[in-house]
Amino acid sequence: MARLVVVSNRVPIPDKSGTAPAGGLAVALQTALAARGGLWLGWSGRSCAEDAVGPLQMLKEGNIDYALTDLTERDVEEYYQGFANRVLWPICHYRLDLAEYERHEMAGYFRVNRFFASRLLPLIEKDDLIWIHDYHLIPLAAELRRQGVTNRIGFFLHIPWPAPDVFHAMPVHETLLTSLTAYDVLGFQTEHDRENFADCLSRRGLGKRLDPARFVVGERAFTARSYPIGIETDDFAALAKRAAETTLHRRMLQSLDGKQLIIGVDRLDYSKGITQRIDAFESFLNRHTDSQRKVTLLQITPKSRSEVPEYEAMQRAVAEQAGRVNGALGTVDWVPIRYINRSLRRPALAGLYRMAKLALVTPLRDGMNLVAKEFVAAQNEEDPGVLLLSRFAGAAQELKEAVLVNPYDVEGTADAIAGSLAMPVEQRRERWKAMMKTLRTNDVFAWCDTFLGDLAESPAPQKASPAGIPKPARSAETRAQPLRAAAATSHARWS
Ligand code: F6P
Repeated sequence: MARLVVVSNRVPIPDKSGTAPAGGLAVALQTALAARGGLWLGWSGRSCAEDAVGPLQMLKEGNIDYALTDLTERDVEEYYQGFANRVLWPICHYRLDLAEYERHEMAGYFRVNRFFASRLLPLIEKDDLIWIHDYHLIPLAAELRRQGVTNRIGFFLHIPWPAPDVFHAMPVHETLLTSLTAYDVLGFQTEHDRENFADCLSRRGLGKRLDPARFVVGERAFTARSYPIGIETDDFAALAKRAAETTLHRRMLQSLDGKQLIIGVDRLDYSKGITQRIDAFESFLNRHTDSQRKVTLLQITPKSRSEVPEYEAMQRAVAEQAGRVNGALGTVDWVPIRYINRSLRRPALAGLYRMAKLALVTPLRDGMNLVAKEFVAAQNEEDPGVLLLSRFAGAAQELKEAVLVNPYDVEGTADAIAGSLAMPVEQRRERWKAMMKTLRTNDVFAWCDTFLGDLAESPAPQKASPAGIPKPARSAETRAQPLRAAAATSHARWS
């Protein structure tokens, strides 16, 4: 079996703390890689001065070899906080109003992709399958091809791909679209995303669609399909069952004092619809006054990307909103919303999902949303809780038996909360069984196997530097790095 080489911006750095890695990407990839083994290259999470980027840090844990690189402060500012999170993220989540395009950040994005390519280059072996993840690294294959790499390279986008009118509002959209043609397989979360991508190509007159999944642009042919990402369904279910025996579980039950638990778990991000959700919960309490003092919403929201101004503003807004609702409706012995900004360990989270009668997973736009899937897997089959799910989450394409809502419709969501809490147990069991069947079939291993199966079977590696793959943006500079030497040193330490 060919060695798997994974590249992503964020890597769950092995440590002994046991805290959950940030975001679905890290959880899913860690599971998939631990089963198959391989090399995982990404950002160490550290930033340093221009001349202080050291060699790759090599670590090994179980089957996985990690290669971690530092980035400079300027890299992080321009590539991560800048173009990736102030242009690509809002655009892919349909927030053109929040996109702040600046040329020097775009140049930084291409420069860092070139840097990742040069860090990876010395580690690549002839038959490696290379699997690149997410919007931070769209041009990475084009950079690798330019440097002579002919291996099979796949790309999976964890976030939505927007409709052409939105994507084409981004000044460098054509360069990014063409960069994607350097891959052999492109993976999207849903059919809807894949079709949006296909529409972007055809609107720009780029290439031809040979069949639903095969495209040719210039001299390169590639596959584009949807591969909905999953979870480790049975393991997560077992984890939730075990968590019900723990002290934390008992303490939480005690503190609820007979009230029904409603749960929301999201990174603090404007795409997650947290403010609309709190509005809906408040509206539910005001419209169904008999529910006051009988329910508690636990909103677990680890802070995220705090250096990006939109996120900083949101931290204040959500904290104020939760405080206002608690002030207006709470009593001396009842707090309607428990709002916490820390991330919990996975066993604790699994136990809380199992205890909850209802999960509110109401993003305004989401690639997939693995919280929805984990909540379902964690339920007690005799008395399962209800999943209230946004139509705009990728998970809604699979979990059709959830209570589907439009998160922009605050009163509609409030009524759906009331309906869900009153749902008879037979109906809850029926819906849960159907969703669990889907989750068992489309688990994280199936996601990984299907994608890698397509990648391994994709036609023999094509020309290294096909026409049509764009040159790097003019203003993007290359940082000189003693990379081969650095990697060779760290390789020695590693093996
Ligand atoms: O799933 C989307 C994603 O951006 C992942 O790429 C990332 O690991 C996760 O969300 C968390 O975001 P960040 O790495 O910016 O904290």
